[in-house]
This record gives sequence, C-alpha cells and structure tokens, in this order.
Amino acid sequence: MLIRPERPDDVDAIDRLTIAAFEPQWFSDGSEAPIVRSLRASGDLTLSLVAEDEGDVIGHVAFSPVTIDGSHDGWFGLGPISVRLDRQRRGVGRALVAEGLRRLRDREARGCALIGDPNIYGRMGFTANGLLSHRGLDRVVVQHFTFSGPSPSGELRFAPAFDAAGR
Ligand SMILES: CC(C)(COP(=O)(O)OP(=O)(O)OC[C@H]1O[C@@H](n2cnc3c(N)ncnc32)[C@H](O)[C@@H]1OP(=O)(O)O)[C@@H](O)C(=O)NCCC(=O)NCCS
Repeated sequence: MLIRPERPDDVDAIDRLTIAAFEPQWFSDGSEAPIVRSLRASGDLTLSLVAEDEGDVIGHVAFSPVTIDGSHDGWFGLGPISVRLDRQRRGVGRALVAEGLRRLRDREARGCALIGDPNIYGRMGFTANGLLSHRGLDRVVVQHFTFSGPSPSGELRFAPAFDAAGR
C-alpha cells in the first residue's frame, strides 16, 4: 500500500470511495463527498492523501485550515476520511492519518483537530481537552493533536466548504 498526495485522475475515485464509505454510517447526511469537492474547488484542500493498493484508491483523507475563536494560527482540520468498506479495520485509516500529520508538521502546523469517535481517533493520538468546542456538540468528540504551543481552547470552525454542505 502506498500513501501519496491525490492526483487529478484520482478525483472520481475519491468521490466514489467517500460516498460508499459514509453511506452506511448513521451520522452521515451525504455531505462528505460534496465537502471534499468544495474544499478542492475553493483552494482549501491543504492536503489530500490517498491510499493506493494495486492501482486502486482504497482510502482517502482531507485536511483543510480551521479557525479557533476566529484565528487560524496554524491549525488544520482532518476530514472527511474514508476507507473502502472491504479494507476497514486493517490499519489503512491509521496510515493515512499518520502520514497526514507528518506532512502537516513539516509545514510547521501547530496542530490538527477533528470531530469524530474518540474510540477511533484516541487510538491515533488525538485527545479531547474539554476546552475545544464545536457548535454545541459533546466536547468528547471535539479532538485535537497539538504539535507545538498550548493545548487549543475555543470554538473550532471548519472551512466554508463544510458550511455550504450543511455542517
Ligand atoms: C473511520 C475509518 C476512516 C477508520 O479507518 P480504518 O482503516 O477502518 O481504521 P484502522 O484500521 O486504521 O483503525 C485505527 C484504530 O481505530 C480503531 N477503529 C477503527 N474503526 C473503528 C470502529 N468502527 N469502532 C471502534 N474502533 C475503531 C481500530 O481498532 C484501530 O485501533 P487499534 O489499531 O489500536 O486497534 C473507516 O472505518 C471508515 O472509512 N469509516 C467510514 C467513514 C467514516 O466513518 N469516516 C470517519 C467519520 S469521523
């Protein structure tokens, strides 16, 4: 398996993968594939990595700028992230996240935040500190990974592509 940045000819495969991975999820409103497209179109797709195996795209993760209490300050958001249904629970998501975090650190990012299941992202090094909030959600799902500086505190906002898609 190879983790690499997306190429223009991956776009349709990423779209299909994202739709298929989120379709069975109870929390999905179907906005994830449009969010990825919108991030790309608006120039907010800071980092888009695919997991490729034998020529097939089996995983994808997007990273985009976020603000905390209105200030970007070197923080990025992780998501959407998708792994092909038949390849889940075998370390593909973990590999995508690890490579993404490595590349963000190389850009001297200060940290990465996400909304997600602590059972999954806690195992990848993310934590919730109770100080980072997002639209009134339970703060245990508002998680972060700090690279440098203090632990984040305040209201987390994702790129406009997430609002346009209904988030
Ligand atoms: C969430 C997702 C990206 C994780 O990718 P993955 O390749 O299946 O995950 P990994 O195999 O790398 O697992 C990483 C860790 O998370 C845990 N984990 C993964 N899926 C889990 C689940 N559904 N419930 C509980 N723990 C889970 C694994 O046990 C693993 O920890 P461990 O290695 O310490 O055992 C993938 O399952 C997916 O595409 N899901 C559908 C779309 C989705 O829900 N996206 C995320 C929305 S927040």
